[in-house]
Amino acid sequence: MVDADARRAAELRALIAEHDWRYHVLDAPTIADVDYDRLYAELKQLEERHPELRVPESPTQRVGGAPAAGFASVAHDPPLLSLDNTYDEAEVREWHQRLLDHLKVSELPSALVAEPKLDGLSCRLVYEQGRLVLGATRGSGEVGEDVTANVRTIRSVPLVLRGQPPARLDVRGEVVVPRAAFEALNRALVAKGEKSYANPRNLAAGTLRQLDPQLVAARPLEFRVWALGKVEGAPLPPCHSAALEWLETLGLKTVRADQAVGGLEEVLAHYRALLVRRDAFPIELDGMVLKVDRFDVQQRLGFTAKSPRFARAFKFPARQATTRIAAIRVQVGRTGTLTPVAELEPVALSGVTITHVTLHNRDECARLGVRVGDTVLIERSGDVIPKVVQVVESAPRGAEPWPFPEHCPACGTKAEQEGDFVAVRCPNEQCPARLQKRLEHLVGRNALDVDGLGERLLQQLVEKGLVRQPADLFRLEDAPLLELERMGEKSVAALQAALRAAHRRPLAAFLYALGIPEIGETAAEQIAHHFETLERVRAATAADVEAIHGLGPSAAASLVAAFAPKSRSAAEVDALLAAGVTPLPAVRASGALEGKTFLFTGTLPTLSRAEAEARVKAQGGTLLSGVSKRLCYLVVGDAPGSKLKKANELGIAVLDEAQFLALLASGPSATAPATAPTAAPGAAS
Ligand code: IVH
Repeated sequence: MVDADARRAAELRALIAEHDWRYHVLDAPTIADVDYDRLYAELKQLEERHPELRVPESPTQRVGGAPAAGFASVAHDPPLLSLDNTYDEAEVREWHQRLLDHLKVSELPSALVAEPKLDGLSCRLVYEQGRLVLGATRGSGEVGEDVTANVRTIRSVPLVLRGQPPARLDVRGEVVVPRAAFEALNRALVAKGEKSYANPRNLAAGTLRQLDPQLVAARPLEFRVWALGKVEGAPLPPCHSAALEWLETLGLKTVRADQAVGGLEEVLAHYRALLVRRDAFPIELDGMVLKVDRFDVQQRLGFTAKSPRFARAFKFPARQATTRIAAIRVQVGRTGTLTPVAELEPVALSGVTITHVTLHNRDECARLGVRVGDTVLIERSGDVIPKVVQVVESAPRGAEPWPFPEHCPACGTKAEQEGDFVAVRCPNEQCPARLQKRLEHLVGRNALDVDGLGERLLQQLVEKGLVRQPADLFRLEDAPLLELERMGEKSVAALQAALRAAHRRPLAAFLYALGIPEIGETAAEQIAHHFETLERVRAATAADVEAIHGLGPSAAASLVAAFAPKSRSAAEVDALLAAGVTPLPAVRASGALEGKTFLFTGTLPTLSRAEAEARVKAQGGTLLSGVSKRLCYLVVGDAPGSKLKKANELGIAVLDEAQFLALLASGPSATAPATAPTAAPGAAS
């Protein structure tokens, strides 16, 4: 009986290890969660009945033991070296030339390997007779810390190797936290009022050195091998790429899937492709690592004091930097929202100089605890707009916490916070700052498009009381204009001409110009297209508006409220009409793309973006500004980025330029793919 139990326990251990491998290493599970749980529960019960079956390599023993008092030291042989960095292609070419010089050859006698540089924590694993016996941090490179108990909780680390493992195997790799898991964990920490982590690397580092394995097990750590260390009892593969391939047969997860092997030009091209895919990559990358593939050539090249000659990191532009907050000012928006903005000591970040960053709202200021004089970590990720991640060094003692203003800085009205909204607002409809913002929007390029009416001029018009509502712009006399700064006869005449031209703008531009909450350019265009005239828009009910494909109830309610009799905006529209600003009715484009929505991303091989968009509109199609379920087609060019990933997730049809042109020529039904392709044509894989 006990024999049968021992056999069953061994069988269950093997089965669970197999499914762990399929799930955590291959990302391709072949069993439902409930069935897996059943196997696990059965093994646990068996081990409870027969504690002698509870062997260290049992999957139930990943999280074992009490919290440690500290970590033992581990010597690394060979040491875990660091890499010299390069930052541009010229430096990589120089490195390549130095390799040739060192070997005294004109052609490198080995391929190069380019692979992602994962932004985590380096870690070394040792297996003896196929069993995990050590997990260690890098430490100084020569000596690290024994974190075996923690590493055992990482599900992509096999406790027992598959296939035919060598007598002893030493591998090196990166402990990482995938970005999505990092963000989810940070959100949960913030919700609990706890401190969040600045980036996935800090989270991985902070977690791996936790003394309680129980805690580590609850964190979403993963492990990827990027190098083979010493091997005993098996022949060494001839090169790095083959070594990783071999390690995969042993059940380890490596960076091989995203490697490129080839000459200098190929690996440089891989860098460019990787940089483009950076935001779509599930793990944060800080660049690419270039390695000479063949081990014998690596050996001939050897090492300098602290890094190998045969490898280089080719870094991506940094996304994070630290700088000091010089001042905090408050902007008043069109709808009265008070937005704090930190003025920064200028700092370079992924190719641009950052001089200010939004602090969003009062809650965010409180969460960050910012003060003027603080040094902050700022980040510019895929979304381009920089943000403050955290305060890294507080202002000198005595500096006051920054007080969010109680009153509007422009008009002095007491600020309000409505219900659950985080925004603090100036409720004064007459607030000059609000009016100024509304006017800036009104005359903007995609709105009434009044040339020569910039911020400074509007500010003077508002300050002098010449303009109190939009229609006043169209009733300005020359005389008071001539009194304004830098306004001569010529500029006044030009301004008046520009204002006259704005009298007849398309209905969509007019609607957008009104700055109605939730009615952006796309919505305005859809509304104009649907109702055709301003009169019909004004007569529409919420239900009429909601009938437009893609407009939700809250946008509909906002539009209807804006035109409600006696509302301020209705009065302003009447005044605009009275001043001669009358929108042109929309002409219904009756094309083959009627009701179809499009979005472009990346550079198309032949069409310019403007041209492609014009063709969509000409055939009655609508352009969207982001990927959502409303989108019918995503048209991708070079460097498609995160939009493609999102479209694939939502199952949206993805077209390349040729497919797009075919669609224009023949109408949607002919070429619309039944299912979305999973990768962009031409995108790097
Ligand atoms: S190879 C002797 N490959 O980057 C070779 N390192 O800046 C040493 N890293 O300490 C490193 N991804 O923690 C290598 N594909 C990769 C890597 C990688 C991330 C980390 C590693 C190393 C650091 C060097």
